[in-house]
Amino acid sequence: MKKAINILVSLVMVAGLVSCNNGENKKGSKGQGGLATNAAEKVYVAPGEHDEYYAFFSGGYSGNLTVYGLPSGRMFKEIPVFSQFPTSGYGYSEETKPMFNTSFGFVPWDDSHHPDISQTGGKLDGRWIFINGNNTPRIARIDLETFETVEIIELPNSAGNHSSSFITENTEYVVAGTRFSVPVPQRDMPIKDYKGNFKGALSFISVDQETGRMGIKFQLMMPGFNYDLSHPGRDKSHGWFFFTTYNTEEANTLMEVNSSQNDKDFIAAVNWKVIEDYVNNGGGTKMPANYAHNVYDHDTHLATSTMEKEVLTVDPTKVPGAVFFLPTPKSPHGCDVDPTGEYIIGNGKLSADLTVHSFTKMLDAIENKKFDGEAYGIPILKFEDVLAGTVKQPGLGPLHTEFDGKGNAYTTFFISSEVVKWKLGTWEVLDRQPVFYSVGHGMIPGGNSREPFGKYFVAMNKITKDRYLPTGPELEHSAQLFDISGDKMELLLDFPTHGEPHYAAGIRADILKKNSKQFYKLADNKNPYATLSEADARVERKGNEVHIYMTTIRSHFTPDNIEGVKVGDKVFFHITNHEQDFDVPHGFAMIGANNAELLIMPGQTKTLVWEPKQVGVWPFYCTDFCSALHQEMQGYVRVSPANSNMELSWSLGED
Ligand code: CUA
Repeated sequence: MKKAINILVSLVMVAGLVSCNNGENKKGSKGQGGLATNAAEKVYVAPGEHDEYYAFFSGGYSGNLTVYGLPSGRMFKEIPVFSQFPTSGYGYSEETKPMFNTSFGFVPWDDSHHPDISQTGGKLDGRWIFINGNNTPRIARIDLETFETVEIIELPNSAGNHSSSFITENTEYVVAGTRFSVPVPQRDMPIKDYKGNFKGALSFISVDQETGRMGIKFQLMMPGFNYDLSHPGRDKSHGWFFFTTYNTEEANTLMEVNSSQNDKDFIAAVNWKVIEDYVNNGGGTKMPANYAHNVYDHDTHLATSTMEKEVLTVDPTKVPGAVFFLPTPKSPHGCDVDPTGEYIIGNGKLSADLTVHSFTKMLDAIENKKFDGEAYGIPILKFEDVLAGTVKQPGLGPLHTEFDGKGNAYTTFFISSEVVKWKLGTWEVLDRQPVFYSVGHGMIPGGNSREPFGKYFVAMNKITKDRYLPTGPELEHSAQLFDISGDKMELLLDFPTHGEPHYAAGIRADILKKNSKQFYKLADNKNPYATLSEADARVERKGNEVHIYMTTIRSHFTPDNIEGVKVGDKVFFHITNHEQDFDVPHGFAMIGANNAELLIMPGQTKTLVWEPKQVGVWPFYCTDFCSALHQEMQGYVRVSPANSNMELSWSLGED
């Protein structure tokens, strides 16, 4: 208790220093001077109590997704998605290796960017969270009962899958846009012939409402611009999707200069309902393709990979009323839609002002055909006709905007390193708070829905510098939590994030935690290599393959002594965890294994391959401290020479 109080006091002091820097008067102050804030109280979650929100942060170059609690800023879990994860054996176990299958072969890493939670009726429903792999274009679905990656679909005709993965308001579609335009189909051609010849694919991936299973419904083949970010329309603009573009110049070299020539780029407004009708009535062109669709099954605890051979493409000029361009100043980055669906905000990276488009005005301009020319056959609307308003000189380098559901917007400014709160409709700046340092994304839990929770704002900062104890040249990126429940934002907390969060998604904890799975039922285990009783534990040889059907329960492996394995064999440990209790995994590690450990959840089966290279008697052990006799949870494999005629034998409890 004394320790807890000490921590509380230190937190109060740190928060107090920050508030002094800000020069703000805090409401509800409890102390004097350095203690003149209750920030520490606001982020303190007492031992044994739970946070109010889950926050899922993209891991950027870690390829994963991390789970935090808000307001405490505590990290609870790293969910492996696009990267092999030795901690659990994800991507190393035979069951999960197929998750990394792609048209390029086995790709065990990616750059994960934008998580988004499934919705029903424009509200977060907490069934799944989706995230994009940017480098080798893929979309993953994570089950929020198990917090495990259960599906990864590759995207053909794409490169730098950045304007992804955003969800329509009934999770009809997960949408993914290509950042780099590329030749479609891919072919050997001069790079200088880019302009007019490359294409930008925007993929609309349908989601089965029962199973969550994804499938590419269609790809919209857009002009060869760069598609940066996107968001769905909601409420009144449900049925539309908005994408920011840059490099409408279609430059291919010295991009920092050549792609910033045009005064305005575009936000592409896509009426996906019109295109859906078009393809449902036989529209579109089937094109040969080759992309992986990997699905993990919770009953078999097994992932399978299927190569898909065809994709439906749509030429936007063939679908009247489907796509329009909204001119937007200066290489817009974030493309954000407010909870009412009326306002579409283009965060022009190089613009002094923030541009807000009006959905109503856009429809009006379309209806009255007030076009200002076209680009590759796609009508361009007049900037003045669709402009709702401008936030005048709010800061430098706007990137992303979030919403609190109370008529306010919060924009992050990378260059001026601040978060600016402004009012939708009047465009007046209401508040600004500095961040430490150089904020990229921001997140309000529920901010991507009709009903944001509107209590906290998290700034995901790109630079950390002096915020934490130095850890060599590399520091974890810093996040900062603001209380936004009052008129002024109040900085509450700094906390480190893992990898590089390019976005986050937050949800009220009570929506998720009641559904969280505690263990897998052994009786439901349909893994073909499962061993459902100790009596069935066995070892079988098939040529040079040795299959060990092993079980675990506190605190032994069955069997624990195996003989008759030879150098040159390929040994499969198929391990089933017989525990039927919450939070009792067993681990498995084999000396000299060229992969990782396994961490096997109760009721689950996992398989590790070991190729013994040396004669001897080699131990294995449990890596997860499972009981007072965890250290006794071990066994041996005797490895004989390749030409030995030693028969297989195995045992438990025999001398
Ligand atoms: Cu099982 Cu430690």
